[in-house]
Amino acid sequence: AEPWPRYCSADVAKHTTPEQGIWVSYKDGVYDITKFVANHPGGTDKIMLAAGKAIDPFWRIYQQHTGRGNALELLESMRIGDLSDPPQADDRSSCPFSTDPERHPGLIFHNNKPCNAELPAELMLDAWLTPNPVWFIRHHHPVPIMDHDQYRLVVDGVGTKSVTLSLEDLKSRFLKREVVATLQCGGNRRSELDQIEKTSGIPWGFGAMSTAKWGGVYLREVLQHCAGLSHENVEAFEVKHIIFKGLDSMEASIPVQKALSPYGDVLLAYEMNGESLPKEHGAPVRIIVPGVVGVRNVKWVGKITASQEEAQGPWQRGIAYKGFSPNVKELTGIDIEKIPSMQDLPVQSAIVFPKAGSTVELDDIEVKGFAWSGGGRGIVRVDLSLDDGKTWITADLQDGKDQAYNRAWAWTFWEASVPVPDSLKGKDITILCRAVDSAYSSLAAKVRVQVVAERPPCPSMSQRGTQPERPEPLWNLRGLNCNCWHRVSIRHQD
Ligand code: HEM
Repeated sequence: AEPWPRYCSADVAKHTTPEQGIWVSYKDGVYDITKFVANHPGGTDKIMLAAGKAIDPFWRIYQQHTGRGNALELLESMRIGDLSDPPQADDRSSCPFSTDPERHPGLIFHNNKPCNAELPAELMLDAWLTPNPVWFIRHHHPVPIMDHDQYRLVVDGVGTKSVTLSLEDLKSRFLKREVVATLQCGGNRRSELDQIEKTSGIPWGFGAMSTAKWGGVYLREVLQHCAGLSHENVEAFEVKHIIFKGLDSMEASIPVQKALSPYGDVLLAYEMNGESLPKEHGAPVRIIVPGVVGVRNVKWVGKITASQEEAQGPWQRGIAYKGFSPNVKELTGIDIEKIPSMQDLPVQSAIVFPKAGSTVELDDIEVKGFAWSGGGRGIVRVDLSLDDGKTWITADLQDGKDQAYNRAWAWTFWEASVPVPDSLKGKDITILCRAVDSAYSSLAAKVRVQVVAERPPCPSMSQRGTQPERPEPLWNLRGLNCNCWHRVSIRHQD
């Protein structure tokens, strides 16, 4: 192969605008990232910090790039040359993650800087309320450390004067409310989509979700108090979104209807499972938006703004939490602003036991798992099959089955004893499960999809009501909303 053209860091430094081309270096490589910057999953402003420079020190902070994701591969596809004077390994002592809390060794770690870790199957069903130390962690930045006495929450926005509240103000001026809610990362089960074709993002199993009883104050009561805003007068204010800014620089918003609904149960939480909120999960105060994708549940919240516009930034308007049709294969050339940001999550379920790859000996397999749906839709049924959906067995719903209508924010555990037919004894068996939520929709209309060589085009990311059969029509560039029938292959031993 031809050798790469050689450049020095002074050449790279001349390329910092779209007109000149935007170049960066990494180790001994030079890359032209001009077309990529607008579609960087971590935001254009972040990647532009490195324009004309070496990205090495940036990637030492955001180590998900060099972990199991596809950032290195993407970068290599943009290579234009060799760097003649690569940077020397520099001082790492001022690591911004050095003050992150200690973490439970039982978690499954995907990254440490920032920390991204999932709840292991072995601990998932032990308690309906996940113990705080093993709660899944999905951070985008270092954990900000905030002295509770110094903490101030600013509430401002359209037609409102700015109001500042301390933690004590929140506790003393508003009634304490409690909500049991499951949070799920939008990328949960991404690893199943990665098996079809690599997506970009953390390759989560099914453990990027956990459940807690949150204690705090209703957001709608705080907005009423500070801004006089309520679901009855919101039209007059022309407010469409409530924006949350985290002290870690996270920014996200939810539609005002969800924020103000008397049935929305959106919380400013300062307690988690009866303890004051841990640093890891947003101390002193975080947002809990029940039924809505994890990323909107902003931790370490410092500012709440009533706005006509959605939040800015990659996690709301950018590519990070937007769904595409499976035929979108490139990060470039997409009009991202036109695609709505994810809010409610679709119905989900998974088989937690037996674990994939295990051997079972009994003639009745004890199968256990969880089911959950977004938007407060409760789980009405969980079905299991050993023959790819030809015949079904219905599981017994356990903890979580009796939640309020359209306010079923927490997961439902289930179990079933599934008899192994003679034809499968001593063989490899694939168990599958699917849940049906209270919306029921699409179940009646469901047709069995033939397995075809080409991935069929499918405009919708996922279905409400029941889970889609196969992962292929769900595949999307960012690996979001994977909620197909969950399959676990085991071996039966006679
Ligand atoms: C996320 C690629 C430069 C900061 C990502 C992701 C990819 C990527 C593929 C998604 C990863 C995931 O979700 O697991 C690249 C490439 C770069 C680059 C090819 C080449 C120049 C940078 C720089 C910074 C940065 C210079 C910081 C100044 C981030 C952040 C995220 C991210 C904050 C979001 C992480 C999250 O949501 O957890 N990048 N990146 N990136 N990147 Fe980059």
